[in-house]
Amino acid sequence: MSAHTTVYLDGAFLPLAEARVSVLDRGFLFGDGVYEVIPVYQGRPFLLAEHLDRLERSLTAIRLDNPLDRSRWEALIGELISHQGPGDWSVYLQVTRGSDDHRDHAFPATVRPTVFAMANPLKPPPAAWLETGIATLSQPDPRWGRCDIKAITLLANALSRQAAKEAGAVEMLYLRDGLLTEGAASNVFVVHKNEILTPVADTRILHGITRQLVLHLAQTAGLTVRETDIPEATLRDADELWMTSSTRAVIPITRLDGQAVGAGRPGPLYRRMTDLWQSALARWHDGAALL
Ligand code: PDD
Repeated sequence: MSAHTTVYLDGAFLPLAEARVSVLDRGFLFGDGVYEVIPVYQGRPFLLAEHLDRLERSLTAIRLDNPLDRSRWEALIGELISHQGPGDWSVYLQVTRGSDDHRDHAFPATVRPTVFAMANPLKPPPAAWLETGIATLSQPDPRWGRCDIKAITLLANALSRQAAKEAGAVEMLYLRDGLLTEGAASNVFVVHKNEILTPVADTRILHGITRQLVLHLAQTAGLTVRETDIPEATLRDADELWMTSSTRAVIPITRLDGQAVGAGRPGPLYRRMTDLWQSALARWHDGAALL
């Protein structure tokens, strides 16, 4: 992004270089806020209703009233995209609890949330990721107990991603109490004995929108798919692993902690899911609802 890129802050569209928030903003001091990342394909937000529903749930979970109603969010996102030009974008929305005149853990008496939005170019994943798959590492899940809230407090996730990157891997997978949870910034699917498995959407993981669509596509195609606890042994015995996220859709994982996953290359069910995804996308471009 350049200094001239148009962003949105508290009711105004302005150049990035002019967007300023108080150092007393609770997002800055406490990480007291939530966010969304919404992919935009050819100028159209993808699964927008699902993203705005999740934003609503995150706000409710942190006891913050939604500062904008649905139509105002839609208008804001539409205007933000119109400033960027045609193409694919990743729209970032953030709402924090705003600032007080001093630092206090408890909420301010009067809350004026800070609303920020920007659009970053949505780059397709490197071709090699899709052709040969990515390498991942695993570690105990270092995060708190409400991973279903899309909170801006991402220190644990950032440290994990950096550790993966420094080791030549793309993503860090988390295990909690011997069970797979998710990646540092993605959900995970495990193909094991011809079943597609993914961890249950409870407080241990973010309820990914891409995950939701992959589950739906697999179910409607008649594939065997199950939301269930996934023990570490099943993860390590997987025939295929995939990671999903709004910015990268579905990516095959072919290495875990230096070991090959299954045959060590993207598997047949990954190929099947890619086909299902492509035809769903084509239907969506033609105006069909997907979920
Ligand atoms: N991250 N789990 C975590 C911890 C995530 O941060 C993300 C997405 C996902 C996938 O959710 P979805 O399919 O709704 O994008 C799962 C975004 C892309 C980010 O932080 O940039």
